[in-house]
Amino acid sequence: MKILLPGGAGYIGSHTAIELLNAGEEIIIIDNFANSNKKSLEAIKEITGKDFKFCELNYLDEEKLDKVFEENKIDAVMNFAGFKSVGESVKNPIEYYKNNISGALTLLETMKKHNVKKFIFSSSATVYGDPEKVPITEDSKTGGTTNPYGTTKYYIEQILKDIYNSDPTWDICILRYFNPVGAHKSGLIGEEPRGIPNNLMPYIVRVAAGELKELSVFGNDYNTKDGTGVRDFIHVVDLAKGHVAALSKLKKEGKGLFIYNLGTGKGYSVLDMVKSFEKATNQKVPYKITPRRPGDIAECYADPKKAKEELGWEATKTLEDMCRDSWNYIKSQNK
Ligand code: WQD
Repeated sequence: MKILLPGGAGYIGSHTAIELLNAGEEIIIIDNFANSNKKSLEAIKEITGKDFKFCELNYLDEEKLDKVFEENKIDAVMNFAGFKSVGESVKNPIEYYKNNISGALTLLETMKKHNVKKFIFSSSATVYGDPEKVPITEDSKTGGTTNPYGTTKYYIEQILKDIYNSDPTWDICILRYFNPVGAHKSGLIGEEPRGIPNNLMPYIVRVAAGELKELSVFGNDYNTKDGTGVRDFIHVVDLAKGHVAALSKLKKEGKGLFIYNLGTGKGYSVLDMVKSFEKATNQKVPYKITPRRPGDIAECYADPKKAKEELGWEATKTLEDMCRDSWNYIKSQNK
C-alpha cells in the first residue's frame, strides 16, 4: 500500500514511518518542518535502509496537496500534522483551530476528490476531558476538553463521524493516544520540544542533562497513591506499531469507523516516573513540589483491551525502556 503521512517528519510520524517501512509498506511524507526537521528524514532512511518520497509543503496548501494526490496513487492517509502544545493553544486559539481543523478538512476534501477513503487519525486521550472513571474505555463520554488543542482533536473526531455517516464507504480509524514518551533505540530520532518543555518526560531529561535546575512536581495532594498525577505513559515505538496494526485492520476488513485507545493500561505517577528515570539512567533528577497546574486531572489511563482484541496489538515496552530511550536520544543529540 502507498500511505501518505502528513507530519511524517515529526515525533510520532517519524517513528511510525519506520514501522511502516519495516512492515513493507510504501510511504510518502509531507511536512513543512513547523515543529520538526530534515534530519529526521535522513534518520528514517538510515534506520530502515529504505527510501521514500518526500514533499515539503504545508497541508493547508490545497493546490500543492492536490498535486501530490494527482501524481501518486495513494491508498491511505495517516495524519500526524498539527500543532500540539496545550499552553500555546490557549494563547493562540485561532492558529490552533485553523492549522489543525482546516488542515484536516483540506486533507479530507482532497482525499474525497481523489477517491481515497482510508484515514487514520492521531487523536488523544484529551478528548475524554476529566474522565468519569479509570481505566478509560473507548465508549466513555467525550468532550469537556479544557484547552483549544484538545478541542481541535474532539472536533476532528466529530467531523470524521459525520463524514462516515454521510458515506459509509470511508474506512476511518481514530487512535486516541495516551502519553507518548521515549524514542527509537538508535538515538537518531526523538522528541524535540521548542523552548522550555511543558510535558513531563522532556522536562525530566533536560533536568538530568543539567540544562534545567529542577523539576516542578505540579501538586502532591491529588487523590492518587502518592498524591501526584497519574498517567498512562506509552513508548512511542509501541504507539507507532499500533498504527501498523490499525492499517492491517483497514486493509483486511475496512468499511467502518473504529476508535481505539493506544495506551499500556498502567497508570504511573509523576514520582514513579522520576524514580524510574533515575534507576534506568543513573542520573539524579532534583525536584520540588509546587502547586497544581491549572487544567490538570488526577488520573488518566487506558483500558487497552479493545485494541488487543480487535487489532491484536498491545504495548510491550516498560517504563524503564521509555526512560532509557528518552535519555539515550538526548545524549546522542548533545554529543
Ligand atoms: C503529565 C503529568 C503533570 C510537567 C498533555 C496533553 C495531552 C497530550 C500529552 C499531546 C501531569 C505532571 C508535568 C512538569 C509535572 N498532548 N507534570 N511537572 O498533561 O497528561 O497531557 O500531553 O500531544 O493532550 O494534555 O502530560 O506530560 O504535561 O503531564 O509535575 O513539569 O506530569 O501535572 O500530572 P498531560 P504532561
